[in-house]
Amino acid sequence: MWAQDDYIYANAQVNHGNYFGLGFGSQMDGSDMVVFFGREGTKEAYAADYMAPGYKSVSFDSQQDWESFGSNECNDQYCNVTVRRKMDTGDFDDYQFKKPFDSVPIIWAYDTSTNMGYHKARGFWENFDYDLT
Ligand code: HEM
Repeated sequence: MWAQDDYIYANAQVNHGNYFGLGFGSQMDGSDMVVFFGREGTKEAYAADYMAPGYKSVSFDSQQDWESFGSNECNDQYCNVTVRRKMDTGDFDDYQFKKPFDSVPIIWAYDTSTNMGYHKARGFWENFDYDLT
């Protein structure tokens, strides 16, 4: 992940037929998420905006703020996807990144399916720190 101007960028490699989620927050419950999907049976991938109302099915944000950035590069195993969104989307369901400095803990999860259910693996990554002064 990185920040530039008013945007946050996220890049991930997602295997065909898998999902991989990044969440902004120190735990799943209440976190804002971007989830990458490797479309089953194709060499295509995309990402979408979610939030987690608890330790249960995540909800698709009615306001979708992530847009693709550049073209996806795919091989036989995975696609490399880059997306971006405004730091401040004005959406109550999104984490609002604040300039000039902010630090947000990141969680992640993936499954070997694109039907988003309980994950095969999940964890805590690191703080995403950015300084735009
Ligand atoms: C429909 C989708 C999902 C379901 C049903 C689900 C369900 C659950 C449940 C039941 C737990 C508690 C058990 C445990 O600790 O493993 C949990 C924990 C966790 N989930 Fe999910 N999850 C979903 C999607 C996601 C996504 C997309 C992410 C990341 C972006 C994520 C990240 C985590 C993390 C990091 C934990 C560890 C516990 C904590 O946050 O305190 N989950 N999930």
